[in-house]
Amino acid sequence: MLLSGLLVGLLALRTLAASDPDPFETLTIKAPDGSITANFIRAGAHITNLFVKDKVGVFRDIILGYDDRSLYLSDPAHPYFGPVVGRYANRIKNATFTLPGGGTFHTGANENHGLDTLHGGFIGFDLHIWNLTSQSSSSLTFSLLDPNGTEGFPGTVTTTVTYALQDNAEWKISMSARTDSETPIMLSSHTYWNLDAYHYSQDVSDHFLQLQADQFVATDGILIPTGELANVTGTPLDFRQPATLGSRIPETSGTNLCGTGCVGFDNCWIYEKNTSDAAPKMSLWSLKSGIRLDILTDQIAAQVYTCNGIAATRNITRKADHGGSNGAVYADHSCVVLEQQSLIDAINNPQWGVNQFVEPKDTYEWNSLYKFSIVKS
Ligand SMILES: *[C@@H]1O[C@H](CO)[C@@H](O)[C@H](O)[C@H]1NC(C)=O
Ligand SMILES: *[C@@H]1O[C@H](CO)[C@@H](O)[C@H](O)[C@H]1NC(C)=O
Ligand SMILES: *[C@@H]1O[C@H](CO)[C@@H](O)[C@H](O)[C@H]1NC(C)=O
Ligand SMILES: *[C@@H]1O[C@H](CO)[C@@H](O)[C@H](O)[C@H]1NC(C)=O
Ligand SMILES: *[C@@H]1O[C@H](CO)[C@@H](O)[C@H](O)[C@H]1NC(C)=O
Ligand SMILES: *[C@@H]1O[C@H](CO)[C@@H](O)[C@H](O)[C@H]1NC(C)=O
Repeated sequence: MLLSGLLVGLLALRTLAASDPDPFETLTIKAPDGSITANFIRAGAHITNLFVKDKVGVFRDIILGYDDRSLYLSDPAHPYFGPVVGRYANRIKNATFTLPGGGTFHTGANENHGLDTLHGGFIGFDLHIWNLTSQSSSSLTFSLLDPNGTEGFPGTVTTTVTYALQDNAEWKISMSARTDSETPIMLSSHTYWNLDAYHYSQDVSDHFLQLQADQFVATDGILIPTGELANVTGTPLDFRQPATLGSRIPETSGTNLCGTGCVGFDNCWIYEKNTSDAAPKMSLWSLKSGIRLDILTDQIAAQVYTCNGIAATRNITRKADHGGSNGAVYADHSCVVLEQQSLIDAINNPQWGVNQFVEPKDTYEWNSLYKFSIVKS
């Protein structure tokens, strides 16, 4: 893990031509009404800061990241702090899949000593330098050409992501992708949240989570789907009624739900089929900062990761605006990642009836809206 992390960082940097503009240059956008501001970099199409107002009207940076931008490509811990992950998010069992029309492919086996592919392999979309293709005061569009054969995947895939900030503190992400040959595509935005901005609290135990999801993808000790879709009823994963993360995380102890010996969540929830794209499928809020996030999406599932083991490889110094200047680090269970996506490894589980193979005639699409507000008391 450590060696591969260093290696990928070096490889990604080496592909930069000297004439390229700085891939770590901060690109700032703002909603027309000034309610939300964010910074991005071309490297990995990462979001690096997101500022919204808390209950007393002070802007807070509520996502994790690095002040030293070069770490987005070179941190051996490789937490994926806010990039687009692809071309296939999450895990591929045994780093192997077979196209419906035939042809078996082996992809970069970058996790669990070669037992699976995570987030597109050794050099996933997060470690590439994206092109900035359009820009306004409130939006940015990045694109990435991923050549045939990269990380073992068939077909050249062209992806665009548009990040837009809108009035009333809304962040809209729109992604689309095309291919010249059949290939699996699953993208996501891999942003780490702490709605208290490490100011009102140092973890997410008092964050409320609500999820319109009645099933989850059962996984084994290394988080590979077993093939079963399980019912949340009677498990710590039932968030149909809101619950705090602090009340639920301890209940996962001994269940191995987030992998062997793991405590917390790292699971794929399947949204209820009757949930409308026009209503929030997921909400997260803190009474301390007063910040509430509602997520609307066209995706059918979501991975929620509660930063179990974020300090396992090394302790990552926080951004200065999170207390990093005093040496504070991002601790386990101090953040949560909310990845809107499809069912993980459906390409190896055809019994679920979820087709993730994209053909040249298709356009893959991913759209989510993150709406921020102040909790009504
Ligand atoms: C795992 O993939 C390898 C090739 O990378 C293949 O030889 C092997 O048969 C696969 N194992 C299983 C259990 O599918
Ligand atoms: C960026 O755009 C140039 C010019 O169109 C193209 O040659 C290059 O492949 C693009 N790079 C990426 C990473 O998409
Ligand atoms: C992708 O590369 C493989 C191996 O070189 C080749 O067989 C295949 O035709 C290429 N696909 C396309 C769409 O060019
Ligand atoms: C989950 O289990 C509950 C209680 O047994 C049942 O009412 C519900 O229909 C089940 N949901 C699904 C999606 O299977
Ligand atoms: C979807 O259906 C379930 C079961 O009937 C119900 O409990 C839930 O409230 C519905 N969700 C929405 C968003 O309408
Ligand atoms: C990170 O810091 C914690 C708390 O000081 C410590 O328990 C842990 O061992 C550290 N992790 C690493 C990888 O050094």
